[in-house]
Amino acid sequence: MAPLPVAFTAGEQGAWRISAITPIRGAGLEAAPRLAVTTGTDPQPRGAWTLRGVVSNIRYTTAEELAALAARQQGLGRPEATRAALIPIRKTAAWWAMAQDERRAIMETRSRHNAIGMEYLPAIARRLHHSRDLGEPFDFLTWFEYAPGDEPAFEALLARLRASEEWCHVEAEIDIRLSR
Ligand code: HEM
Repeated sequence: MAPLPVAFTAGEQGAWRISAITPIRGAGLEAAPRLAVTTGTDPQPRGAWTLRGVVSNIRYTTAEELAALAARQQGLGRPEATRAALIPIRKTAAWWAMAQDERRAIMETRSRHNAIGMEYLPAIARRLHHSRDLGEPFDFLTWFEYAPGDEPAFEALLARLRASEEWCHVEAEIDIRLSR
């Protein structure tokens, strides 16, 4: 599959209403009423800010993990998933200076990112966008969709990941919540 460009534009237009923009680490982003998510060559509306990323290839996940994910995960756009979170993340220079096997050891062997995440599937649907190579302010734009009743589970997932060793390497994070 070719990499898919995705743009998140905050402003007056878009299917999602922005309910909160909370800086977790580092600076926040300007408030706006709505968020438009555009893919590929779709025209982008003008807005207060736009973050860009690409849905890219897998970096760390093993074949076995991928098969388990494929068997459990749900796609985006489920009618009942009327809540979403856009969480832009930037990791430290020290993180990027490590070799891939060292990063995998922190993310999965020691922090159990995917193993923890799997517990919250299929309720939470997700899509990871890579931004680092685009010269963007964040390395990743993470996107999640869930039903209102699954919000407490999503908060619990966030608390567990943010308490992990992997998050010691996160230097910027903003938690943007949405509804439609
Ligand atoms: C819903 C359950 C989740 C599952 C099953 C999951 C699973 C994964 C997997 C398998 C990867 C590695 C992709 C690769 O091999 O390249 C990954 C990467 C990532 N995830 Fe999650 N995740 C979940 C939730 C979250 C949450 C809640 C956040 C943020 C708050 C998050 C942030 C990230 C980031 C930033 C990366 C890229 C890390 C890097 O490449 O350094 N994930 N996730």
